[in-house]
Amino acid sequence: MKMMRYSLDQLIKEADKLPPIPQAAQKALALIRSPESSASALSRVIEMDQVLTTQVLRWANSAYYGMENRISTVQQAIVVLGLEIIQELIMTYSFSDRLYKPLPGYELQRGELWQHALGTAIGAKLISKKLHLKIDEDAYFAGLLCDIGKLVFEKLLRESEINRSEWGQHSFLELERNSFGIDHAMLGAEIARRWQLPENLVTAIAHHHEPQSAENHVLLVAAVHVVDVSMMTLGVGIGIDGLQYPLDNAALNRLGMTFEDLFHLIEQVAEQCAKAKEMISIV
Ligand SMILES: [Fe+2]
Repeated sequence: MKMMRYSLDQLIKEADKLPPIPQAAQKALALIRSPESSASALSRVIEMDQVLTTQVLRWANSAYYGMENRISTVQQAIVVLGLEIIQELIMTYSFSDRLYKPLPGYELQRGELWQHALGTAIGAKLISKKLHLKIDEDAYFAGLLCDIGKLVFEKLLRESEINRSEWGQHSFLELERNSFGIDHAMLGAEIARRWQLPENLVTAIAHHHEPQSAENHVLLVAAVHVVDVSMMTLGVGIGIDGLQYPLDNAALNRLGMTFEDLFHLIEQVAEQCAKAKEMISIV
C-alpha cells in the first residue's frame, strides 16, 4: 500500500476546515450540562437562533401530534420534550448536515453514515440505561460522533491513488493507518479535542475500534464499540469493509452482556431509529 504525503499537522489542518458546532447549539448543550440550567435560561439561548427555534417547536409539535393545543413557545417545548430529548435532538440536528452527506471515499451513499451514527448513538444510550451507568447522554453523543474522523479522510481517500482492488481485503482502519499514519478513531478524537468536547467523549471516539486499549471510561468505550460493530455487521452505514471490524468479546463481557442481549438491543435500536428519523426529518 502506498503511503501518502500527509503529516499529522496537515491532517489536523484538514480537520480544522470542518465547520464547527453551531454556536447556539454549543451554548444550549453547555447550559443543559450545567447544574444551574433551567428551562427559561435554555429557552433564551435557543430563541437567539431562528433556525434552532423553528426546529425545537417542530420537534415538540411532531412528538405531541394531535394535542389539542399547539406548542407555540420554546419554553413549552422544553417542558414537554424534557431536557434529555432536547439535548439529543439539538446534538443530532447540529451534526446532521455533516453526517448526512455521501462519503464516496468510503463508498457510503448519502444518509448511510448518518444512519450508522444515529443507530450507534441510540444503542450506546440504551446500554447505558439498561446497565444504569448514568452516562446516557454521553453514550449517545459518543455513538453519534465516533466516526467523525472519516469526514476528513473521506476527501483524502477520494483524491488518493489507492488501488481500489485492495479495499475489499483490508478494513478502512488498516487502509487509513497505512496511508495516513493514523486511523479515523485517532483523528476523530483530535477533532473532538479541538471542539472542546468532554474528555470521556474524546476517549470513546479514540478507542471505539480497540476498546481494550482504553484506560479510562471503559464502559462508555465498550458500549460504543459493541453497538458500532453490530451496526457494521448488520450492514447499516458500511462501505465495502463492513465485515472487517471484529467484535471484541471482552467489551461485551465487560458490559455483562450476552450475544442474545445484543441482538435484542439491536431490535430496539431499529425501532427507536425509525422514530427519531421521523422526528428529525432531514430528508
Ligand atoms: Fe469507526
